[in-house]
Amino acid sequence: MAFPFLLYLSFLFLSLPALSLSQQQQQQPPKGYLIDCGAIGSSMIDGRVWLTDDGFISSGTAKNLTVPNLVPTLSTVRSFPIRNGLRRKFCYVARVYRGARYLIRSTYYYGGVNGLDFPSPPVFDQIVDGTFWSVVNTTEDYSKGLSSYYEGVFEAKGSTMSVCIASNTYTVSDPFISSLEMLILGGSLYNTTNFDSHALRLVARHSFGHNGSIIGYPDDQFDRYWEPYEENVSVIASNTVPSVSGFWNIPPSKVFERALSTARSESLELRWPPFSLPSSTYYIALYFADNGDSPASSREFDIHINDIRYYNNLIVGSEGAAVFATRWPLRGATKITLSPAADSNASPLINAGEIFDVLRLGGRTHTRDVIALEGMKNSLRNPPLDWSGDPCRPRDYSWTGVRCSEGERIRVISLNLTGIGLSGSLSPSIANLTALSSIWLGNNSLSGVIPDLSSLKLLETLHLEENQLTGEIPSSLGDIESLRELFLQNNNLTGRIPDTLVGRPRLEVRTSGNQFLTPPPS
Ligand SMILES: *[C@@H]1O[C@H](CO)[C@@H](O)[C@H](O)[C@H]1NC(C)=O
Ligand SMILES: *[C@@H]1O[C@H](CO)[C@@H](O)[C@H](O)[C@H]1NC(C)=O
Ligand SMILES: *[C@@H]1O[C@H](CO)[C@@H](O)[C@H](O)[C@H]1NC(C)=O
Ligand SMILES: *[C@@H]1O[C@H](CO)[C@@H](O)[C@H](O)[C@H]1NC(C)=O
Ligand SMILES: *[C@@H]1O[C@H](CO)[C@@H](O)[C@H](O)[C@H]1NC(C)=O
Ligand SMILES: *[C@@H]1O[C@H](CO)[C@@H](O)[C@H](O)[C@H]1NC(C)=O
Ligand SMILES: *[C@@H]1O[C@H](CO)[C@@H](O)[C@H](O)[C@H]1NC(C)=O
Ligand SMILES: *[C@@H]1O[C@H](CO)[C@@H](O)[C@H](O)[C@H]1NC(C)=O
Ligand SMILES: *[C@@H]1O[C@H](CO)[C@@H](O)[C@H](O)[C@H]1NC(C)=O
Repeated sequence: MAFPFLLYLSFLFLSLPALSLSQQQQQQPPKGYLIDCGAIGSSMIDGRVWLTDDGFISSGTAKNLTVPNLVPTLSTVRSFPIRNGLRRKFCYVARVYRGARYLIRSTYYYGGVNGLDFPSPPVFDQIVDGTFWSVVNTTEDYSKGLSSYYEGVFEAKGSTMSVCIASNTYTVSDPFISSLEMLILGGSLYNTTNFDSHALRLVARHSFGHNGSIIGYPDDQFDRYWEPYEENVSVIASNTVPSVSGFWNIPPSKVFERALSTARSESLELRWPPFSLPSSTYYIALYFADNGDSPASSREFDIHINDIRYYNNLIVGSEGAAVFATRWPLRGATKITLSPAADSNASPLINAGEIFDVLRLGGRTHTRDVIALEGMKNSLRNPPLDWSGDPCRPRDYSWTGVRCSEGERIRVISLNLTGIGLSGSLSPSIANLTALSSIWLGNNSLSGVIPDLSSLKLLETLHLEENQLTGEIPSSLGDIESLRELFLQNNNLTGRIPDTLVGRPRLEVRTSGNQFLTPPPS
């Protein structure tokens, strides 16, 4: 890596939690949603309610898996149709608290739901709002009989947040999802990340020295998953567990019950995370607490990651310590080395670690355009299936028929829904899509009147031919100076063609096939 060591230092933090005498409050489960995708009824699991996905998504099909003895949340999925080679997203949309940070966890268990022709799970994408989150490839877990989960931390930018399942060119059968959790995280967690422009994608979170099952709620009040992790080093148990209330990121106290350690004066070396990493910048947090074996001990060590200094002379007492780096470049295998300081009379130890990929957010469509498109969607009887989530982003996943501008302010610049069998009416809210230069809605079954579109100052082409539109042609269309093509033929428009549209140079108006339309007097 070509980064000088000093660069890292400015991103390093240490915290020694203040001793806190206050006992843990009566635990409330984290606020948010537990969604059992495809389920026909809500259910209570370990005292928490799992909702059906009815109120969150309108596309896709609920399916039962035929695998016996599955845990309830894995026994049903929602499945989404692919169209060969076409990128399309299908979104869960939930009401959220703007500005709150959410832990989002999606879980997948294929269970052969796409039939015998597709013994392996499909590989597809997942998206949060306008940001590509990750590829979902559950092939390896599934071959071992395991479900797979993905976790991320995203800030709610509006009053709703969307989590989308998306087919890609490498998706060979219908994508699906088993469950979706969206849970509010405490505001102080991971707060050195700038969530205005970034999100965190979990790479690994481990409780070192633990065996047995994953630690989650209620041990972790935010229901983060801490996986057990053992390596070829000794496991030691703790006699004392620190108060976690003052810890950065508030890890569960259970992770301090065990630690990985070595003999005194030896370095502790971990191959963690236990797989090769793609080149990126990572948020890394490591958690430590003295195990209280010998009260007089002084436990002090240096931390290196891939032989690059991460922290010097960390003194770990029974009150514990957390050390983290907010943006650390890594690639390939990772080695964490804890080397005892010269005057340390106790061996190095480590209790837990988290590593996230720091994601840059993909942007969001200008809010006014989103609201206008939602209005348009609501007045259509059969809007395209993928009209949910962010209309323009991620770039390859804009809504069917929607084209958008690039740059800071992401606007809708053209609509083309020609000949896709749309019915319903045209919402007046289209007039708020003020960056539109073309509207092509010809050859559908749209009815109702043409709304006032005079606010579309950039509109060049308006194609509404081959529909069942009624009412008069708005004379305000004449106010749009940029208009070059106005195609209205074969509708059921009435009244007179407005004078403002007649005889204008560089404007082509077609109105044939409107039985009751009166041409202007010539
Ligand atoms: C799934 O199973 C439930 C009962 O367990 C049944 O009511 C429902 O109709 C089944 N759904 C499908 C799509 O077969
Ligand atoms: C999915 O993962 C499997 C096993 O790790 C791998 O062989 C396969 O190439 C991956 N598929 C895609 C499309 O990335
Ligand atoms: C982040 O959280 C820590 C621990 O709660 C707090 O001390 C610190 O002031 C917070 N920092 C920011 C930038 O909010
Ligand atoms: C976990 O570790 C403890 C102590 O090392 C051992 O007694 C126990 O059998 C282990 N449990 C499992 C499930 O491996
Ligand atoms: C575990 O460590 C011991 C001693 O360091 C070594 O002999 C052994 O080969 C290691 N085992 C594995 C699986 O790495
Ligand atoms: C709109 O879509 C139709 C049908 O797919 C196509 O023929 C037409 O060229 C498109 N118009 C624009 C402006 O892209
Ligand atoms: C209109 O759309 C239908 C599909 O909805 C298509 O079959 C037909 O060819 C189209 N007609 C024209 C004139 O484009
Ligand atoms: C256009 O947006 C404004 C707010 O930005 C809203 O008050 C107005 O009702 C919208 N117009 C239509 C026709 O929906
Ligand atoms: C067209 O409009 C006329 C007059 O409003 C009405 O009588 C007729 O039924 C309409 N035709 C269609 C096909 O909608």
